[in-house]
Amino acid sequence: MLKLTTALAVTLAVALPGALLAQDKTFRVGLITPPVHVWNKEVDAMGVTLGEMSGGRMAVTAFPSGQLGNEETMLQQLQTGALDMAWLTTAGLTVRVPDLGALHAPFLVDNIADAAKVLRSDEAREILDALPAATGTVGLCYAMTGMRQIMTKTPIASAQDLNGLRFRITPAPPIQNFFEMFGAAPAPMPLTQVYDALANGQIDAIDMDHESILNFGYFDHAKNMLETNHQMFGMVALISGRVWAQLSDEDKKIVQDAAQKHCDQTIDRFVSEEDSKLDRLKAVEGLTITEDVGSEFFGDIVTRWDAEWAAKTPYVARLRALTAAF
Ligand code: BEZ
Repeated sequence: MLKLTTALAVTLAVALPGALLAQDKTFRVGLITPPVHVWNKEVDAMGVTLGEMSGGRMAVTAFPSGQLGNEETMLQQLQTGALDMAWLTTAGLTVRVPDLGALHAPFLVDNIADAAKVLRSDEAREILDALPAATGTVGLCYAMTGMRQIMTKTPIASAQDLNGLRFRITPAPPIQNFFEMFGAAPAPMPLTQVYDALANGQIDAIDMDHESILNFGYFDHAKNMLETNHQMFGMVALISGRVWAQLSDEDKKIVQDAAQKHCDQTIDRFVSEEDSKLDRLKAVEGLTITEDVGSEFFGDIVTRWDAEWAAKTPYVARLRALTAAF
């Protein structure tokens, strides 16, 4: 049987020079998020979809919780082909693709439904075209985690109270600039280190989304939350450029379609669950939540941030124009 299969493969390869043969493939997918996160559940579901669409030839093995390293390390593994796929934050890619920084413009959108519209826009899609040259990866699709909120150990009454606080941030220049602009001391740190850093007092505050706050229970050590919605937080489903180049056109379509299905489902889940997650946080004993904290709380930060980032990417102006029309 083995000999027959091999003989058939050789015959086909001779008959179809240049054509790539359909192969069995288990994609190794890296994530910084833990198994309970929506991204991880959708990656597992993507494995099932790939199996169905490929007649059982394709599958997924997920490596959650930064098991393979932080996002930059995973990006390097994608570049060499040591890792097949990863679901990485748009933030983590901004060093290499500054245009993605525009998605982190403060108060770009008023709510998560508008964040979904931005991620599904032609403008956002266009930015993914820069990925192969800048990162050696192909961006299959966008998804997101929730809008960003602020959690602190001490109560916050005004922006002055945030001054000098050591704030854990996702390592990314546009985020660092935002926090510096209101006088905080940003401490870039991977998601996997945040809980312990809060617990041992290494940091005073974090910016985070509802899903991760619930998953990790950051309110154990930060009892104050400002519902700022100050930033949307995107994700890009990436495949190694080397792995992509080895796929036949038919298999590329299967991978693209399966990824798109689960990116879309991820976005839809975040949009529909954002309010109920806030309700769950409101029920946490000892957590004080200040709602409706708008951009005015941070003074003229939007103007200052835009002035700095408009010099780095035209997408700041383009995305502001897009969202102004929502
Ligand atoms: C973070 O770095 O804060 C983060 C990363 C991935 C998902 C959620 C949060």
